[in-house]
Amino acid sequence: MTEVLDFDIVVLGSGIAGMSAAIHASKSQNEKVRIAVISKLHAMRSHSIAAEGGISGVLYPGQNDDSYDLHAFDTIKGSDYLADQDAVSILVKNAPKEIRFFEHLGVPWIREENEEIQFRAFGGMSVKRTAFAADKTGFFMLRALYDYLTGIENIKIFHEYYITHLLLSEKRFAGLFGINLATGERVLFKAKACIIATGGYARVFGFTTTSYSSTGDGIAMAYRAGVPLKDMEFIQFHPTALVPSGILITEASRGEGAYLKNVDGERFMKDYAPAKMELAPRDIVSRAIITEINKGKGLIQEGSGMKYVNLDLRHLGKDKINFKLPMIREITIKNLGLDPIEEPIPVRPAAHFTMGGIHTDINGSVMSADSSIPIAGLWAAGECGCVSIHGSNRLGSNSLSQCAVWGRITGIEAARHASQHKGQHPVSPNKLVGNAEKDLDRLIAMDGDESPYSIRERMQNAMEEHMYVFRTAKGMRQALKEILELKRLSKRIGIEDKGKIFNTNMRDAFEISNLLELSEVSIRSAINRKESRGAHAVLEYKERDDREWLKHTIATYSKKGPKLSYIPVKITNWKPKPREY
Ligand code: FUM
Repeated sequence: MTEVLDFDIVVLGSGIAGMSAAIHASKSQNEKVRIAVISKLHAMRSHSIAAEGGISGVLYPGQNDDSYDLHAFDTIKGSDYLADQDAVSILVKNAPKEIRFFEHLGVPWIREENEEIQFRAFGGMSVKRTAFAADKTGFFMLRALYDYLTGIENIKIFHEYYITHLLLSEKRFAGLFGINLATGERVLFKAKACIIATGGYARVFGFTTTSYSSTGDGIAMAYRAGVPLKDMEFIQFHPTALVPSGILITEASRGEGAYLKNVDGERFMKDYAPAKMELAPRDIVSRAIITEINKGKGLIQEGSGMKYVNLDLRHLGKDKINFKLPMIREITIKNLGLDPIEEPIPVRPAAHFTMGGIHTDINGSVMSADSSIPIAGLWAAGECGCVSIHGSNRLGSNSLSQCAVWGRITGIEAARHASQHKGQHPVSPNKLVGNAEKDLDRLIAMDGDESPYSIRERMQNAMEEHMYVFRTAKGMRQALKEILELKRLSKRIGIEDKGKIFNTNMRDAFEISNLLELSEVSIRSAINRKESRGAHAVLEYKERDDREWLKHTIATYSKKGPKLSYIPVKITNWKPKPREY
C-alpha cells in the first residue's frame, strides 16, 4: 500500500541547491505554494556541508581589475572551452547576489579590515574572487539555509526518505516514488513541479572526497525515466585529497600559498604551469601530480603503500593556518597525527565532482529525449544538473555559486509553473506507481549469492584503474567489460535484510545499481570522445580537437546501453584558444 502525499512542488535533495530552490520558490509566491523537500539523509548531512574553500563571485567589479567578463573568461578557459557561454554569463552575473544573500542569512564571511568581504585565490581564477568562511564554507551556508527554511511554514522537510523512481507521463512530471526509511512504508509524492537537486556520482570511485551519499540517485532515476544525460565522461579529480582516506584538503590551502612538492622537495608545478604554479586548474594540477608519481618522484606512505606528493603549508605560519585553514589542521591531526604547522600533508588526486549530469536548458529545465523541448514541470539544479557551465573541467569555488544561482532560478521557475497550473497530472496514483512497486518487490525478494558490496568494490577498482586522471582506449574498454559483467551479476544479488525499519541493505543495493548505470554511461561517453579535453585525458590523444569534438555528449537510456548523440557548444564571445597557464 503506497501512501499518497500531495504538494505543489517537490524538491528532491536538501543540499545548497535544493534548499535554495525551496526557499526561493516559496518567497517568489509569497509562501503560497506547498513545498516538500525530500532528503535520503537528515537534511543537514547533505554533501554540500563538505564544501570547504569558498564561493566565487565578482562582488566589487573594477576592484583588482576584476569584472564579470574576466570571471566568465576564466571559467570558459578552465572548462577547456566546452562550457556553454550563455550559461556562464548567467553564473557570473548572479553569483554576487547570492554571496550577499548568504551574508544576510548570517554566513560569517571573513572580512577585510574595512569590513568588505575578503576574497582568496583559487585555481584558474585570474584574481582573488572566492568568498569564504575559513575552510568550512559549505557548513556555514547549509546551516544558514536550514535555519531559514525551517522557519517557513509552507515548506515541509522529509528527512530520510529514499526516492527510487521519477515518474513521468506524457512528457510531463507526475510524481516521485520511494520509501520512508524509518518505517519502510512506500510513498508517492504527487506535485505539479519537481526540482531534482541530488548531487553528483563521484562514488563510482572508491578514493573520493565525496560523501558515501554521492551516488547519483537523481541522475540515474532520471536516466531510467528516459531523460537524456549530458557530458558524463567528465569527472573531476581534486588534486589534494588526504592519503589514505581521500578527505578533501581544500584548494584554499594553495590559495593561501601552500606548495606542492615532490620527493626531492621541488615545487614541480614549475614544469607544468609556470605562470600559475599550484593555482593552475585542477585537471592540470592532477595530471602533474600523477606524472611526478609515475616518474618515480612521488613518496610512498608506510602502511597504506599509497603513492603521494607533499602539500607544504609550513611557511604560512601558525596564525594563518589557525585562522584561515583550521579544519584542515584538525583533519590532519585527527586522521594522521600530523600537524601541518610542522609537517607537509600527503596528498594525491581523488574523484571530487561530476561535470556531467541531467541535460537542462539555461533555466535548469530538464530536456526531453530529443533535446528540443523541456519536460513540463521538471527542473534540475546543482551538481546533478548539467546546465553546462563547467564544460570538461570545473574551476574550484564555481560549484557553490552554481548551486545558489540555479537553486534560485529553478525555485522561481517551478513556483511560477505551479501557481499557473491548477491541477496535478491526471493519471491515477495506482497506475503511476504500479511498475515502481513491482521493482521494489523484486529487489527486496532477491536471494542470490552475489553481494552488492563486492560488486561496488569491483566497480570502484575498475573505475580507479581505467577512468582516473589518465585514460587509455584499451583501459576504458576493459572498464566497460567489467561494468557490464557487474551489471549481469547484480541481477543475482542477495538482500539479507528483509525487514522494513531502516533497511539500509536495500537502499545500498539501489544506490549501487544507480552507480553501475552511471559508470556505464560515463565510460561509453568517454570511449566515444576521441580527443583529450579538460578532465578527459586520453594517452592516445595528445590534444583537444575542436574541429570534431567541440560538442556535448548526450546519452539516452536504452535497454542495450546508452544511445549517444551530440549537440553543439554555445559560443558567444570567447573563441576557443590554446589553454596555457
Ligand atoms: O578545495 C575546495 O575547497 C573545493 C572547492 C570546490 O570544489 O569548489
